[in-house]
Amino acid sequence: MRVARRLGLLCLQALALLSLQAQGQEAAGGPGDEADQVQVEVLYVPEPCEPKSKKGDLVNAHYDGYLDGGKSKFYCSRTQNDGHPKWFVLGVGQVIKGLDIAMLNMCPGEKRKVIIPPSLAYGKQGYEPAKIPPNATLIFEIELYAVTKGPRSVEAFSQIDMDSDKKLSRDEINHYLKKEFERDGKKRDPSVHEDVLADIFKKNDHDGDGFISAREYNVYQHDEL
Ligand SMILES: *[C@@H]1O[C@H](CO)[C@@H](O)[C@H](O)[C@H]1NC(C)=O
Repeated sequence: MRVARRLGLLCLQALALLSLQAQGQEAAGGPGDEADQVQVEVLYVPEPCEPKSKKGDLVNAHYDGYLDGGKSKFYCSRTQNDGHPKWFVLGVGQVIKGLDIAMLNMCPGEKRKVIIPPSLAYGKQGYEPAKIPPNATLIFEIELYAVTKGPRSVEAFSQIDMDSDKKLSRDEINHYLKKEFERDGKKRDPSVHEDVLADIFKKNDHDGDGFISAREYNVYQHDEL
C-alpha cells in the first residue's frame, strides 16, 4: 500500500485512469459513529433528475467551502479558473473523501449543502495552504452541472485495447503508460514504469490471468483508508 501511495504521487495523471482506486466508500454508512458521517441536505432537485452521478463519473460542479459552521468561506470555485466549474472524477480521491461521498447520486442542476467531518476532510493536520485548521468540520454548497462518463468508460477501454480482443494485456497497458508518461514530460527512473505496471495488475487483475478484462477494468475496488 505504501508503494502504491508513493507512485500515486509521482504520476497522478497516468494512474488516474487505471490505478487510482476509490477511497472513502467504507466511510459512508460503514462502521463508525455520527461524527464520521457526511450530512447531506438537498437544497434543489430538478425534474426530471437524471442522470444520477456514480463512482467513476466525470462530473462538473461549482462548490463553495465554509469553516466555523458556515461563518467563513475558505474556498470558492467560482473565483478560480476564470469562474469555470471544476471537472473531476467522482469517487476516486481527486477531491476530499467527504465530497466524493456527498456528491454521489446527484443529478445535473441539483444543489446540496453538505457537512463533512474532519475525518473525511483534512483531519487532525488541517491543510495550511488553504488555511484549514486542525480538526475542522467543513461545509460545502454544491451545484452540479454535468455528469458524464468517466475515464473508466467503454471508450477509454477500447482506446487501450489495441487489438480489440476485449481484454488488456501487459503490452497494451505498457504501451498506454509510455504514451501517458511522455505526455506529461516528467523525467522518471525506468523502474518507476515497471512498478506502476505491476501495481496496476495487482489492483485490477483480480483473477490473476495476466489480463485485465473489461469487467475487471470497470470494477472499482475499495482501497485502505
Ligand atoms: C484534534 O483531534 C484529536 C482527536 O480527536 C486530538 O487528539 C487533537 O488534540 C486535536 N487537535 C487540535 C489541534 O485540536
